[in-house]
Amino acid sequence: MTEAVLTAESLVRQYGGVRAVNGVSFSLRKGEILGLIGPNGAGKTTTFNLLSGFAVPQLGTVTFEGNDITKWSPSRRAQRGLVRTFQQARCFAALSVRDNIRIAVNALSTHSRREQSGGGDEGSRIDEHLDQFGLLAFRNVRAGDLSYGQLKRLGVVTAACTRPTVLLLDEPAAGLNGAEVRQLRSDLEHLRGALGISVCLVEHNMGLVMSVSDRLVVLDAGELLAEGTPSEISQNEAVIRAYLGGDK
Ligand SMILES: Nc1ncnc2c1ncn2[C@@H]1O[C@H](COP(=O)(O)OP(=O)(O)O)[C@@H](O)[C@H]1O
Ligand SMILES: [Mg+2]
Repeated sequence: MTEAVLTAESLVRQYGGVRAVNGVSFSLRKGEILGLIGPNGAGKTTTFNLLSGFAVPQLGTVTFEGNDITKWSPSRRAQRGLVRTFQQARCFAALSVRDNIRIAVNALSTHSRREQSGGGDEGSRIDEHLDQFGLLAFRNVRAGDLSYGQLKRLGVVTAACTRPTVLLLDEPAAGLNGAEVRQLRSDLEHLRGALGISVCLVEHNMGLVMSVSDRLVVLDAGELLAEGTPSEISQNEAVIRAYLGGDK
């Protein structure tokens, strides 16, 4: 089995009387895209917060590259290469696409990671990334002038430019039109393929998540309902009952 890069083990996070996450365990393997799905209130966002450090579990551990990071701050995780995006795209609206990326890269590049990425001129490396994602023509555009879909892509590309080991993406397809979703699919394939980034993705767009994910984890009422390949999940009786074939 491929090596795990990020592991959730028996995570519990309770808010008042609600167990938002109730004993969830799963691993993200090196080089894969793992989809995290489930009905509203299943605990997806809470799980994401536990993985990225925006929430701390009452029980359980999060392990990243062999280190117990359960109590690490979000910024410490990001510095080490565990980076997340937010559902609401965040950027500096008055700055150009290129400067937005430059700020993120500078904020997250520790000395050692900068050396790993081969030194060289930072500006040209950023342009290279923009070119690979087909965004070079937008480099001098103010982020605030981008369309909603382009802004969401900028979030993904910015995160990718910081050279994370793991990228956690929160609903990257929300609000995108069909063409933008197709573009996002190829961005995700580029992340996994050419850039070798392991990706965990919370996503409601079933067409996208079923086609781009290597494996899926299904949460329901704070618990892990199923785990498997897209075809295993789409045939899983419990998943169909709880979610896919539900009366929504
Ligand atoms: N900060 C919070 N305070 C109180 N309840 C919360 C909080 N975060 C999540 N919950 C509750 O935990 C459950 C799971 O929520 P969430 O993780 O957002 O699910 P999902 O993202 O799958 O829709 C829901 O019942 C939600 O109301
Ligand atoms: Mg959510």
